[in-house]
Amino acid sequence: MAQETLKSDIKSLLRKRNAVLLAHNYMRDEVQEIADITGDSLALSMEAAKTDADVIVFCGVHFMAESASILAPEKTVLLPRLDAGCPMADMVTVEGLKELKARYPGVPVVTYVNSSAAVKAESDICCTSANALKVVQSMSENEIIFAPDKNLGSYVARFTDKKFHLWEGYCPTHERLRPEVVVELKDQHPGAPFVCHPECNPAVVALADHVCSTTGMYDYCRKSSAKRFIIGTEAGILWRLKRENPDKEFILASPALICPNMKLTSLEDVHEALVNMRPVVKVPEETRVPAKRALDRMLAIPR
Ligand code: 13P
Ligand code: SF4
Repeated sequence: MAQETLKSDIKSLLRKRNAVLLAHNYMRDEVQEIADITGDSLALSMEAAKTDADVIVFCGVHFMAESASILAPEKTVLLPRLDAGCPMADMVTVEGLKELKARYPGVPVVTYVNSSAAVKAESDICCTSANALKVVQSMSENEIIFAPDKNLGSYVARFTDKKFHLWEGYCPTHERLRPEVVVELKDQHPGAPFVCHPECNPAVVALADHVCSTTGMYDYCRKSSAKRFIIGTEAGILWRLKRENPDKEFILASPALICPNMKLTSLEDVHEALVNMRPVVKVPEETRVPAKRALDRMLAIPR
């Protein structure tokens, strides 16, 4: 089917099913183009929590669709590609987290949303890259367990006196960006701010002019008077950056910044999901209720 026909068929199916299409900022360009809402993990969770639609088509990865199901259990949550996972989320298990909790009794667990529903259910509070510092600052305890992203954890730890017990997880996509590549690019483009995601390696983060979530990048690049930027996050971010700033130039810091899982979902997959009303992601109640507690506690903190 031609792309334009596919897009208009998806639009009419969305209306027919009373469905909303949420797409993460790392999705393929053509998927972001037909989305009702694009955003970072935090914005999409908030949208899932408040939508009036009966169906949420989640174009992202598995943990994101789970979060939508946790927050909106009465809705049907479709994840067009069930195989779109997140290797970082898979790096932490319930058993492992329980062991860490036993080693540090009474120490609260702050869990990045890039984690399974079962891991969230074992956590005290969740965070995203957009609110991690605020979440940590909201804790009265002066010691925390932070899982699964050691890079985000060590970035946040710099701004607080709290003691961090870090889980050893990381994002393989962001980890591929090496500091020497950034140094070279900064030399080639003097004056171009280097903006990166806190999932990057600390040696890369140390070179950044600004560190932020994907939505934070849109805000920063829009407001900045610079005309050229070096971007240290997944390539999908470029679509909206270019659209919103036609007079500015964006240089992806490395061609390796492509998350294979975020690139799986095609327009054909979205179409098929809406025709067949599957694959459905549904979190069982015994996991959903404690996981929701951790997400709600996070969502109560203003963005
Ligand atoms: P944010 O959208 O929260 O910045 O997330 C980055 C990410 O890696 C999602 O998988
Ligand atoms: Fe997971 Fe990294 Fe891909 Fe995000 S970019 S889904 S953290 S592997």
